[in-house]
Amino acid sequence: MADFEPTIIAFVCNWCTYTAADLAGTSRLTQPPNVRMIRMMCTGMVDPKYVIKALLEGADAVLISGCHPGDCHYINGNLKARRRVKLLKEILPRFGFDERRVKLTWIGASEGIDFANTMKELVEEVKALGPNEVRQQMVI
Ligand code: FES
Repeated sequence: MADFEPTIIAFVCNWCTYTAADLAGTSRLTQPPNVRMIRMMCTGMVDPKYVIKALLEGADAVLISGCHPGDCHYINGNLKARRRVKLLKEILPRFGFDERRVKLTWIGASEGIDFANTMKELVEEVKALGPNEVRQQMVI
């Protein structure tokens, strides 16, 4: 499994984490190429169906990342996202997924270094988990 390179889907808030990713890029911080970002206007817009669909279609993990609590541009979208992720983690095992495949983080617009470090840590965590359970079953 040493050569396993995970695919990670990241739903990121336009106002915070996406801007932090941009800052990390313009600051020339090294980042793993495993993360595919989907820009959302707020983490409160991330429907749990999007997460389950990404995992069912072979993503090894899904990250949801947005503004710190109290900083959401839509007042409480990130708090709604936090509640949804908590419930999602409870139902993921019913779909056959390890709940650690879904992660929620808060990364502010000025935190480019945190963004780059979080992506590196996430890739290492998912490498330790191994490939998505559904994808493993499809490879027979
Ligand atoms: S606007 Fe960033 S999480 Fe809501």
